[in-house]
Amino acid sequence: MKVKTVGPVGAKIFLVGEAPGEEEDKYGKPFIGTAGHKLDVLLAEAGISRHECLIGNVAKERPPGNKIDFFYEDKRRTNPKPILQSWINELKEEILMYNPNIIVALGDTAMYTLCGLRGISRYRGYITDCALVPGKKVLPTYHPQKTNYEWRLGFDAVMDLRKAVANSNTPDFPKDTRKLHSGCSFNEFMSYLDWLIREHEGPIALDVETTDPGCHIDIIGIAASPKLAASFQIINGKRPVLSPEKEILLWRKLAEVLAYKECIMQNGVFDMSVLWLHTNIFVEKFVFDTLIAGHVCWPERPRSLAYLGSICLNVPAWKHTAEEMPLLYNASDAANTYGIYEYMVKELDKQKLWNTFNFEMAQVYPAAMLQLQGVEVNTQVRDELKKTVAERLEYLDTTIEEMIGKKVNFNSPKQLQSLLYIDMRLPVQYKRRKSASEERKATADATALQTLSRKTDNPVLDLILEYKKLYKLTSSFLDMELSPRNRVHTSYNITGATMLRKKKGLIIDDEEAYKSFGRWSSSSSIILPYGSGNLQNIPKIARKIYTAPPGYLYLQADYMQAEAVVVAYEIGDEPAKLLFRTAFGLPREERLARHLDIHRLTAALMFQKQISEVTEEERNIGKRLRHATNYSAGPTVLANSINCTTKKAKELFAKYHQACPMLRLWHARIQDQLRRTRILTNLFGRNHRFLERWGDELFRSAYSFIPQSTVGDLLNKALIKLYYEYGKHLTIPLQLHDAVYFIIKETELETRIKEIRDVMLIPMHSSTGEEFIIDVDFSAGPSWGELEDL
Ligand code: URA
Repeated sequence: MKVKTVGPVGAKIFLVGEAPGEEEDKYGKPFIGTAGHKLDVLLAEAGISRHECLIGNVAKERPPGNKIDFFYEDKRRTNPKPILQSWINELKEEILMYNPNIIVALGDTAMYTLCGLRGISRYRGYITDCALVPGKKVLPTYHPQKTNYEWRLGFDAVMDLRKAVANSNTPDFPKDTRKLHSGCSFNEFMSYLDWLIREHEGPIALDVETTDPGCHIDIIGIAASPKLAASFQIINGKRPVLSPEKEILLWRKLAEVLAYKECIMQNGVFDMSVLWLHTNIFVEKFVFDTLIAGHVCWPERPRSLAYLGSICLNVPAWKHTAEEMPLLYNASDAANTYGIYEYMVKELDKQKLWNTFNFEMAQVYPAAMLQLQGVEVNTQVRDELKKTVAERLEYLDTTIEEMIGKKVNFNSPKQLQSLLYIDMRLPVQYKRRKSASEERKATADATALQTLSRKTDNPVLDLILEYKKLYKLTSSFLDMELSPRNRVHTSYNITGATMLRKKKGLIIDDEEAYKSFGRWSSSSSIILPYGSGNLQNIPKIARKIYTAPPGYLYLQADYMQAEAVVVAYEIGDEPAKLLFRTAFGLPREERLARHLDIHRLTAALMFQKQISEVTEEERNIGKRLRHATNYSAGPTVLANSINCTTKKAKELFAKYHQACPMLRLWHARIQDQLRRTRILTNLFGRNHRFLERWGDELFRSAYSFIPQSTVGDLLNKALIKLYYEYGKHLTIPLQLHDAVYFIIKETELETRIKEIRDVMLIPMHSSTGEEFIIDVDFSAGPSWGELEDL
């Protein structure tokens, strides 16, 4: 059935979807099925009702199987078939006839038809000129059905619809009154900097553009307000624009600006590190990072400038102009950073999140310094290790060849699969699929090799596994390029986002970042291209190459079973609390002798044994079971991790809940809180607004939030204090997981431990107001890989 556009004459907003679905086809009305229901919810949250809007579609009839491709001649969906073209013409007539002030393109098909643009996530939230009826405003946003699949996108859609309402009173485009000076001469730019120092009041927003290799600064842009910015090119391609004398004058003047003015930046850890590295200019008054503000206010949404701009500003999209107009792009970046700052200040006020924001800002300098300083590698130790590994690899290579009778490249998945499944006729292993409809694909990855080794006991498989492990050790962790000072560098991301560098220095978002809950993540350095990057997954053996200088030691301080302590106090687990209190401050030997170990306690309860009789295997089950139950993991997850049947895993869960009934109550309390506000607050006052669809995934994430983010914040609180108060005589090479690392003088071990312990023992209060402190464990050794418990 043909589904016509509906809505009142005189409507200011026209919502355009893709094509009718089953329900729409049945009743001849647009958006009345599941997508329509979601649209109603989104509209209501945005403060409008569908009855105030025109609602229609690009295609007026339902395509077979709801596949819009049916109406196009080509796979890329650029060439509409005549029937679709006639509907597009009809849509054009409707726009002309009803003359809405703004058209909302719901999804990619509508956006392409109306604006000729592809990539809804790139353009959503930005008012764009209509190509179908030039002069009309279009605001693209996600199709409601997409927000049903990816619940978090509903937040963006609501923000976009609010923007549509705000822009629906007039047909005019929002006036762009920004003055973006992108073609300044040297003298003009210098006068601008002078003016900033002498006359401008308030902060400035700074942005630098860089290129490889080595992140050289190409362009700098400074905004004095959201409406005024200027940019200046320093390197054009590979050629400096200025004479050395003039360039020195420029940097001096910039240093002066940054000495006097408070500075706003987007992802300032990057910009300030680059500036310091290349020009020795230290951004001393870095007061506001828009990326951090985005992360604090909307922890589950992206933090890139493009994203924040789409939410906070009413300016045209600009991120696609980077290559064609780099100077204008940079000036826009600076001005828009300023605009986002003004918006976020109000948002932080509204959400009362200044404490968390300031706490995150205090981590900026330590993170920048840690990443620039790098971690020193002992090349002699590295070379010896490389030699040993190379010898073993050679041995493995010849031994395996003799055993299988041919040469195989174990790094080629194709060759390995052919060896395992054709020559050796082993049962084919498949990749895990995301859904049952996905095609099954054979694999010979490490998990497959482990499974086959378990099933068949064939010794070749273990040798192949060892070969692959050692090969990776060499290629990823021993063969990496070192800096001229034999260091590896990493990039710390204090908001947990793994900022990947894309072409032209464009920073993109990591959609998984929301899971970080305030903990840092590290990735390969985007500033200094030395090292293997992520420090989190360096195997223990490779950590040996990071040694302390003679007379010095590596010292690791980590919070003891920190998440378990938080959970114990949150749920009121008395036996666990008593255990933590008794163990507090005791040396490791004494703790072991008295079996003061939470995982042993769990195992003792599960296996109804004396704590002293618990075996290592039972302890391991206790450890995994406690973790899995606390965060409500499924029985399959537990079964896989302790290698048992799902039935057994279910039994263990039931037993655990029987022994610890408060856990279910705690889960229920969290669900209740989610139902009421969707916001949880950790023990340091960090808020997290959960956007996920109601269900198990949301609950799991919510159960882990308080313990994980509290421990992350605890570690960073300690790090900030150690960095600022003891940084002079403590070298902090790393921050990782729940631990901070130091390089200290051997002779000062005791004093330093005392000092660090005093800082790290931070009293906290559970949600019920009970005070507790998480204990700290120390280990030390000549290298990062040879730490011994103290
Ligand atoms: N999806 C659309 O794009 N339009 C409808 O009318 C219904 C679902």
